[in-house]
Amino acid sequence: MLCLSGFKPGGENFLPQACCFSRQEFSTTLVRERARNMAISVVILAAGQGTRMRSALPKVLHILGGKPLLEHVCERARELNPERIAIVYGHGGEAVLRRFSAWPVIWVEQALQLGTGHAVAQALPHFPSNTTVLVLYGDVPLLRQETLQKLLAVVDEDVPALGLLTALLPDPTGYGRIVRDGQGQVLRIVEERDASVEERQIREVNTGILAAPAGRLATWLAQLNNDNAQGEYYLTDVVAMAVQEGVTVKAISAPAEEVAGVNDKRQLAQLERVYQRHQAEDLMIKGVTLRDPDRFDLRGQIEAIGRDVEIDVNVVLEGSIRLGNRVRIGPNVILKDVEIGDEVEILANSLVEQAKVGARCRIGPFARIRPETVLAEEAHIGNFVEVKKSSIGSGSKVNHLSYIGDSEVGSGVNIGAGTITCNYDGVSKHKTVIEDGAFIGSDTQLVAPVRVGREATIGAGSTITKDAPAGKLTLSRCQQVTIEHWQRPVKPKGR
Ligand code: UD1
Ligand code: CA
Repeated sequence: MLCLSGFKPGGENFLPQACCFSRQEFSTTLVRERARNMAISVVILAAGQGTRMRSALPKVLHILGGKPLLEHVCERARELNPERIAIVYGHGGEAVLRRFSAWPVIWVEQALQLGTGHAVAQALPHFPSNTTVLVLYGDVPLLRQETLQKLLAVVDEDVPALGLLTALLPDPTGYGRIVRDGQGQVLRIVEERDASVEERQIREVNTGILAAPAGRLATWLAQLNNDNAQGEYYLTDVVAMAVQEGVTVKAISAPAEEVAGVNDKRQLAQLERVYQRHQAEDLMIKGVTLRDPDRFDLRGQIEAIGRDVEIDVNVVLEGSIRLGNRVRIGPNVILKDVEIGDEVEILANSLVEQAKVGARCRIGPFARIRPETVLAEEAHIGNFVEVKKSSIGSGSKVNHLSYIGDSEVGSGVNIGAGTITCNYDGVSKHKTVIEDGAFIGSDTQLVAPVRVGREATIGAGSTITKDAPAGKLTLSRCQQVTIEHWQRPVKPKGR
């Protein structure tokens, strides 16, 4: 559990209600060692209503690149290896808590959203007073770690100092403006609604992200009032207080794209494209051929990727992806949680999920490989074939219009067009075993549980309900007959 440090800013409005989780669940995947010694605490503001999203889902749970906005921000925070991370939640908070209950963060409820200053004040009592506090927004997901390091360096260099992340926007409407004096020193931030006509001309805006020593910040926040156009406790008012105390205030400028926030679905879509573009560029730099980087979506993580991989248009990669050397992925393919071996070819319009695909396999076009499937090397799964929870041996072929479920298929097996494993009796699933070298004639139904022996042949059109012995021809078919003197019905004329 966490020890709460001494200071308590402000009056009753500022009393925090917090719950927290142990740090044991902390997974260290993305944590990088910070170069400097300064300890930091991160507060992520996520209590806003997000009304403009027009959604029942809290804003920070909306998805960018396959994961919630808040997760992107939290990842950035964790990379800084902070002492503490506090997330200030409010509207729809239960859903947020449920989604991220395992995170090693301090959850701070802000029942009433009285402003950004009030929000930060709720979190401060949970931070050691000798740390530097970094304020992030839960709806600003594209920040780069390098930018945050630059901002933190400001506070590290001068003690005490306040670092502000700003951006130069062609259209600053809606943002707080950075007011500077004749020497270019930052004086204060003025919110648009409180700004004079001249101040509104300023194009340098407050991104909302700032860093300051916890102790100082607490004193400033305790002095905030809500005497402004919105009747809120503005975090931005601490800037003028810092200047008054002679504390160095330094602004670090960030590219507009990086500090853009999500307020509505339009912006969410815009940021998705920016995010995807970055990922595509990263892959191309690593040597991947993307036929069109604007028609590529990675909604997960590429864990490993080989050389000379080619990806055609409209491919969606989800979850955890491993691709071997010279893998070729055709247009409109969706891959989710897959491990694909060297020289595999996945043809157009195929869907592969939770599967392991051996080297030199060929899949599709129009194939569906469902979870828990393992294809050994050089297996071929053709058009309109569905494979579920099955293993297919090396060099085996299921080329046309088939369903293979709960099956164990050996190597060198040929499964004819239209073959179906009948794996479900309405209550339970049963297994089909097809041993090495078997040949299954077209349009066969294999009623599980059933076994087809090594090198067995099944005649086309059979319904196999009993095990078929190795090396023999088995079929189940009516005798073909021809009816003499049979006449086809004839339509009477005039009807
Ligand atoms: C804020 C800044 C403004 C800046 C802009 C950048 C203030 C007073 N203004 O304005 O200078 O240009 O961000 O986007 O800080 N939040 C809470 N609790 C609250 C209020 C807000 O958690 O009581 C959270 C929101 O969920 C959001 C963030 O704080 O993530 C910013 O809140 P928002 O209302 O969007 O601030 P702006 O008015 O846009
Ligand atoms: Ca905003």
